[in-house]
Amino acid sequence: MSLRPGESLEPLLSEEQIQSRVREMAAQIRADYADQDILLVGVLKGSYLFMADLARQLGLNCSIEFVQVSSYHDQKSTTGVVQIRKDVDTNMEGKHVIIVEDIVDTGLTLKHLKELFEVRRPQSLEVCSLLRKPEAIEHEALVKYVGFDIPSAFVVGYGLDYGERFRTLPYIAVLHES
Ligand code: IMP
Ligand code: MG
Repeated sequence: MSLRPGESLEPLLSEEQIQSRVREMAAQIRADYADQDILLVGVLKGSYLFMADLARQLGLNCSIEFVQVSSYHDQKSTTGVVQIRKDVDTNMEGKHVIIVEDIVDTGLTLKHLKELFEVRRPQSLEVCSLLRKPEAIEHEALVKYVGFDIPSAFVVGYGLDYGERFRTLPYIAVLHES
């Protein structure tokens, strides 16, 4: 993976900052759910690293599933119309479900996904997102667990991509293009 002419990366969150915040988030979730079983549903692909780290911190009480949604968008923004392209392999009814997201921008993707999941009658349904952009703060109720509130810039790394590039970066950076 290399930078293209005119592109530059400005580090925003270090690997250490991310790992320590993920530990805090897991501690909060453990406290909130006590010993109850949790079903984590990661939204592919952006959440894959966050999901792995969070699930490891949560330990034995959680099982994991993934969904993939297509939200008609170009590479940098979304229209919020969501279709499930890959669904979970398990019944959510009666379970404590937490949707695990990489980033909430407008919140439209998540709003639709939550509506689709509510119909399946989970016992509870919450959202845990590593990052949140300013626009999403308007929909405060949408996300219960937030790792970091970040400025309204396009970020990559730790799972987040730009046209499939940068996902494997261990830290998060703002992508600048001149
Ligand atoms: P929303 O529906 O506007 O909240 O869009 C959320 C989705 O857009 C995320 O799950 C990401 O896949 C993508 N996205 C939004 N902002 C960024 C960003 O800064 N970098 C990479 N992907 C982003
Ligand atoms: Mg995503």
